[in-house]
Amino acid sequence: MRRDPLAFLGIELDSLKQQGLFRQLRILNGEQGHKSTFDGRSVVNLSSNNYLGLTTHPRLREAALESVRTLGAGSGSVRTIAGTMDIHMELERRLAAFKKTEAVVVFQSGFAANAGTVAAVLTKDDVVVSDQLNHASIIDGARLSRATIKVFPHKDVDAARKVLKELPASQRKLLITDGVFSMDGDLGALPDLCALAEEFECIMMVDDAHASGVFGKNGRGTIDHFGMHGRVDIQVGTLSKAIGALGGYVAGSQSLIEFLYHRARPFLFSTSHPPAVVAACIAAIDVLEQEPELIDRLWDNTRFFKAGLKELGFNTGLSESPITPVIAGDGALAMKLSDRLFDEGVFAQGIAFPTVARDAARVRTIVTATHTREELQFALDVFARVGRELGIR
Ligand SMILES: Cc1ncc(COP(=O)(O)O)c(C=O)c1O
Repeated sequence: MRRDPLAFLGIELDSLKQQGLFRQLRILNGEQGHKSTFDGRSVVNLSSNNYLGLTTHPRLREAALESVRTLGAGSGSVRTIAGTMDIHMELERRLAAFKKTEAVVVFQSGFAANAGTVAAVLTKDDVVVSDQLNHASIIDGARLSRATIKVFPHKDVDAARKVLKELPASQRKLLITDGVFSMDGDLGALPDLCALAEEFECIMMVDDAHASGVFGKNGRGTIDHFGMHGRVDIQVGTLSKAIGALGGYVAGSQSLIEFLYHRARPFLFSTSHPPAVVAACIAAIDVLEQEPELIDRLWDNTRFFKAGLKELGFNTGLSESPITPVIAGDGALAMKLSDRLFDEGVFAQGIAFPTVARDAARVRTIVTATHTREELQFALDVFARVGRELGIR
């Protein structure tokens, strides 16, 4: 009989199980909401990126349904062949106006937007100077580009400056940061990095996935929040988190966008969004513009919950956003914390190495605009009880 050539995968999985790091996927039974049923259990949901509750907003639902009726279920092609529909162009125009840039191109996901853009813009002769905690899609894009990758310690602008100083002036450089860091919830050092990019003539790029719909006027992101309009050459946003549907986009100059039409491989070689996704995203921009009270509610809930966790004595790191980690340290302990919270009716996913450093495993909480105060207080009470039981506070 043939030996299983994938047997080594089983060995790796056994090792994860021995370390208490093996995870079964949690299955959502029904809608993504502030209170949802996962694996048959009703829980306060602190694990989604559905910041504004738009996954189930009536205007998004209706727009998606209507577009299926009039335009069908799929686009049938990649964008560069026959898969660019009117509605794709309308979404890009709306996003460009929203982001105050000349143009926008939409990708199938935020991951594709980051990886596709970095890989398209840079060549092996270039350098990418990247924050240590930037998202995996930036790292993968940098690897695909074959550019030299220089990583600076998290938010250490002086270290970034040192790296840039040592590079030849003539070399093309991309300086890149997340706007909001997805595991810690802190903000990128945008104003200082923009100044550095100007001093060293770098291309400045910001991945605003977790800031889209959350920071800035009407959710325009950290570039708006910090008043950096015109100083960031490549802005990435996602349509998959606060926007409530799916996709990613790049906002920038007309020539950047036209270049990406020709060179970004996920744009060239993967089918475009179905009309329902696009229509939902357009409806989400309407909601951001017309219902800013959702963002106010998100921030009210964020302040309440963050203060509650701190008061209980948990290590919540340096978060400045609705993402608040509760850092347990050891990976197995973080997973145990997550499991016990779940048993008690609170879903906060455990996150361990390699997503975060080995000694900084955590559960990550994200509140949304739609959580009620009672739900958040309930979650805090459960955190207090389980934290005490596991000796985490
Ligand atoms: C910082 C950051 N950038 C990009 C992405 C990718 O976005 P998407 O889920 O739309 O692919 C994520 C999502 O995990 C993220 O956290």
